[in-house]
Amino acid sequence: MNELGKISSKSQIKKIPGLTNLYNNILKELEEVEEKLKLFSRSPNKLVSEVSTYLFQKSGKRIRPALLLLCSKLQGYKGKENIILSALVETIHTASLIHDDIIDNSEVRRGKESVHAKWGPNITVLLGDYLYIKALGLSLQSKHRRITQILTSISARMIEGELNEYYLSGNLDVNEEDYLDIINKKTASLFSASCQIGGILGKASKREENLLMEYGNNLGMSFQIIDDLLDFTGDEKILGKPILSDLCEGRITLPLIYTLNNDGKDNRKLIAELLSQKNLQKKSIKEILKIVKSNGALDYTHKKAEEFSLKSREIISQFPKSIYRDALGLLPEFTLHRRK
Ligand code: FPP
Ligand code: MG
Repeated sequence: MNELGKISSKSQIKKIPGLTNLYNNILKELEEVEEKLKLFSRSPNKLVSEVSTYLFQKSGKRIRPALLLLCSKLQGYKGKENIILSALVETIHTASLIHDDIIDNSEVRRGKESVHAKWGPNITVLLGDYLYIKALGLSLQSKHRRITQILTSISARMIEGELNEYYLSGNLDVNEEDYLDIINKKTASLFSASCQIGGILGKASKREENLLMEYGNNLGMSFQIIDDLLDFTGDEKILGKPILSDLCEGRITLPLIYTLNNDGKDNRKLIAELLSQKNLQKKSIKEILKIVKSNGALDYTHKKAEEFSLKSREIISQFPKSIYRDALGLLPEFTLHRRK
């Protein structure tokens, strides 16, 4: 692997460390984050404690908490506030996912029934609101008043991104710029904020804070592009969620945008016809998949994710060398080659 980490052979891909290796130097802190999440799940309200306990059973990748912890340590932070704030970003993420699963009609998440499949949409909406408000309220205890401001403004951005994505569902005129704007808001903003908050704790200069935000933003973009790619190419068992769900819900993601703009007019017309069906048949999905797989759309999408991934590595390499910088430098590579 060269300095910026271009993966040049298949055997090197095998050497990409899993998350446990990447998290090696923050394992103790991540355990403490888990404890905090368990604490958040406790409530005299039986339903709140039952659903939250179900939600926080350890099965997520915990990337946002890891980013916050690593960025704070990169900046030499030695205090304890990074634990609670990491738990808060994970809580906001979890609240957003349970709402997202209702919007996307997803019945499975992290290999288990989604919350709305198990408890129905009403309880799920309320629990999402509860977790979200609780997280923001707890952030007010931070010494840094800016942090609540950051969390509220990026939450609004996430909602905007999710709204735009839903609003543009089924619209075949969505272009790459629209798509990048949506994923920037719905996903990259929380990655960026997690890094920024870590930086603030570690007394980052304005320049360092901006670099950390840019690093997180590029990593988040790469992460979501791969998420959308895995929706076409992934393995449901490994992913712990159904594939081809974007197509079924009419979400126009990058592989389809590339196909619609670069395949012939006939295929564009055919895809439009197939997607206009009220209940998309399995046969039609297979037909669209065959077209997407045959025209370089998947390679193009992966290359786009690689561009963002490389940019994030380039940015983090501007910080002084440390074990935390090494982990942050490897995360984009993990993101790019992940199967989950
Ligand atoms: C997953 O996208 C969804 C998000 C990253 C963001 C969802 C945001 C909201 C629902 C807004 C509400 C926000 C708050 C703070 C309460 P995806 O559907 O592409 O990913 P998936 O395949 O994992 O479902
Ligand atoms: Mg979804």
